[in-house]
Formats: sequence, C-alpha cells, structure tokens
Amino acid sequence: MFDTMVLTKAAAAFCGALLVFLLGNWAASAIYVPRNAGAQQAFIIDTGADDAPAEAVAELTLEEAFEVADASAGSRLWAQCRACHALEEGRNGVGPYLHGVVNREIGAVDGFNYSGALTQAGDLWTPEVLSQFLLNPNALTPGTSMSYRGMPNVQDRANLIAYIESES
Ligand code: HEC
Repeated sequence: MFDTMVLTKAAAAFCGALLVFLLGNWAASAIYVPRNAGAQQAFIIDTGADDAPAEAVAELTLEEAFEVADASAGSRLWAQCRACHALEEGRNGVGPYLHGVVNREIGAVDGFNYSGALTQAGDLWTPEVLSQFLLNPNALTPGTSMSYRGMPNVQDRANLIAYIESES
C-alpha cells in the first residue's frame, strides 16, 4: 500500500499546504496595510523605563567644596594622617609636621629628610595643590616617600584641608 507513489503524493500534499499558507500570507499583507504604519505615536506614556541613566552627579569643583568645607568633618579624616604626621609645630614623625602647611613652602620643614619628589608639585602648598596631592600623592609627586593611597572625595579633601588650617 505504501508504495513510492503514495509517499510522493503525501509529501506533495504537505508542501502544497505550506505553499497555500505562504501565498495566503502574501496576499493578506498585500491587501491589509496598517493604515498608520509609520505614523507618529499620538501620545507617549512615559514609563520612566528608558530614561537615560541619571547623569552622574557632577563632581563638585574644588571651590564649591571649599565654600562648604567643614573642619569638624575634617577632624575625623585626620585619623588617616596622624600615624605619620603631627599638627604641632616642629614635631616630625614619619612625615613632616603639618602645622601651617596650607600655603607653606613645599618641602620646607627643617630637619625633615624629604625624598625630593615633592618639588614636582610646585613650590607652595596652596589648597588647590594640597587637594591634588591628597587625591593621589603618587600621581602628583611620583616617587614620594609618603605612602598614602589617596582620598578620592573632593569634599573630604576640602574638609580635611579646612581642619588642618583651623588647627594651625
Ligand atoms: C604612611 C605615612 C603617611 C601618611 C599616612 C600620610 N603621610 Fe603625608 N607625608 C609622609 C611622608 C613620608 C612625607 C614626606 C614625603 C616626601 O618627602 O616625599 C609626607 C609629606 C606630606 C606633605 C608635604 C609636607 C611638606 O612639608 O612639604 C603633606 C602636605 C602631607 N604629607 C599631608 C598628608 C595628609 C593630609 C595625610 C592624611 C590624609 C597624610 N599626609 C598621610 C607620610 C605620610
């Protein structure tokens, strides 16, 4: 019963059926064109889903950070420095004393054995230079003997500088 002819006819019927569907699809899409295809959306509901990710809050500029600098917040940050530095004049530790370091000449503490790298920062510890230094000592003054990884937050640096200044 299942001779070649029967199988061939069955296969032909199957392909024919697919062909009918295919033609039907063509015919339908030729006849029915969505009237507003390509038209602009009448109104758009904002689901907030595809909002551009909120722009990273712009870093405060140093001036802005200094304007609102809080010395008492800076006193907590001083904990990161006190292992090596003292604020009392003349008391050197691992690092030179920092009394009056704001606007002090760079590398100018008598009797402290500087590495010589600090002069790359210029000649005066202005608040701007200090901030740059504290951000990453090794970037501003490569080879410095101050092993401190840096303080990334600009407001922290401004607070700390305000503290050092207020204690001087
Ligand atoms: C691990 C010890 C260490 C820590 C922690 C450290 N310092 Fe220093 N600091 C040094 C040394 C050593 C030097 C001298 C660097 C040189 O000669 O290259 C120095 C130099 C400095 C100078 C330059 C002073 C000058 O007379 O020119 C400043 C300013 C300074 N440190 C600020 C800070 C502040 C602020 C902190 C805390 C956030 C800090 N340091 C943390 C060891 C340290």
